Amino acid sequence: MVSLDVVHASNARLRELGPGLVALFVGGTSGIGEYTLKAFVKHSVSPRVYLVGRNASSAERIIEECRGLNKDGKIEFIKADVSELAEVDRACKEIAAKEKSINLILQTQGNLNLRGRDESPEGLARKFTLNFYSRMRFTSNLLPLLRAATTSPPGFARSVSVLGAGHEGSINLDDLELKTTFSTTTCADQSITMNDFMAEQFAAREPSVSFMQTSPGVVNTGLARELPFWARVAMKGLTPVVKLFATGADETGERQLFHATSGMYPPAKPLAGSAVASGVPLPTGMAIGTGSDGKVGSGGYIVSPVGDITGNAKLLSDYRAKGVSQIVWDHAYSIFERVQKLNESRNAS
Ligand SMILES: NC(=O)c1ccc[n+]([C@@H]2O[C@H](COP(=O)([O-])OP(=O)(O)OC[C@H]3O[C@@H](n4cnc5c(N)ncnc54)[C@H](OP(=O)(O)O)[C@@H]3O)[C@@H](O)[C@H]2O)c1
Repeated sequence: MVSLDVVHASNARLRELGPGLVALFVGGTSGIGEYTLKAFVKHSVSPRVYLVGRNASSAERIIEECRGLNKDGKIEFIKADVSELAEVDRACKEIAAKEKSINLILQTQGNLNLRGRDESPEGLARKFTLNFYSRMRFTSNLLPLLRAATTSPPGFARSVSVLGAGHEGSINLDDLELKTTFSTTTCADQSITMNDFMAEQFAAREPSVSFMQTSPGVVNTGLARELPFWARVAMKGLTPVVKLFATGADETGERQLFHATSGMYPPAKPLAGSAVASGVPLPTGMAIGTGSDGKVGSGGYIVSPVGDITGNAKLLSDYRAKGVSQIVWDHAYSIFERVQKLNESRNAS
């Protein structure tokens, strides 16, 4: 466990990465994304931040609150429903038109609704798209900008997906897109395991960037807002109990910022000659994390709420032996191709 003192000390050194860091927070209009965005703005020098979500009034409130945290920060809201990949592409285009490089992508888009398989016009389950396809698509679209950030000092670039690291479940290889076997549980199981393989596959291909899935633990956020009325009432009743063991907003933001910026999780080949290309340097005596492929510092990490390397090692290695990591990668790109063709024909008609 990384102690909170170490987390605070590391985040206080984020300014050593220099002015003008560029970050994207998808799902930053509430909860874990909001808390981490605020921690990032507070600790960085003249950051430029893109905030993606649907709720414009939340975004407005957060932008206003961030002015009090760092008067030199620039935060821009991009309104998008990223349960559709066309919207992901539009948001990425908007960012790419304004920025040449990006240092950090942190994604927390998701919901806790019980609507079952709510299919978008793109033919995908919206919840599964929020948990997996949209996250992979953001990172994939913005790879040129991540790469560009690693070519000159500070040379730091990382992509973080906050979901459920350590809670991996089985993948249905006969129904990779959960067309016929969708449930809240299969969606969680499959998307968490797929997020691990996403980090691992990106890391193997992009050695100057690091990638990770993290878990937030239990955090009292807006996550229940899309539950049906009866479930929200039940959740409200449980709130005092949840608060007893939940991690608070400030600690969550600081801990996720540590995951997102510490040198504990370096890329496989950081830019030579920059002391901060791997992130904020680790204090003496602390060890660099082991990547999900079992190699220290290999660039793809599965990280617990308190900074430890986690993951269901047996399940993941059985899947790797069957080539599932590559299967997941190929599947995602085949979905991207299918949806792109569908959207092109929808736009043409
Ligand atoms: N809270 C916990 O205890 C906990 C535990 C384990 C895992 N997690 C995971 O952590 C992630 C973040 O959860 P949270 O607790 O921070 O939830 P939250 O407060 O509800 O935040 C979710 C964010 O996702 C965005 N979002 C949802 N649907 C979207 C859509 N269609 N398009 C664009 N943005 C969308 C929301 O923004 P808009 O409403 O503005 O669109 C919001 O900013 C989720 O993946 C969740 O499953 C949370």
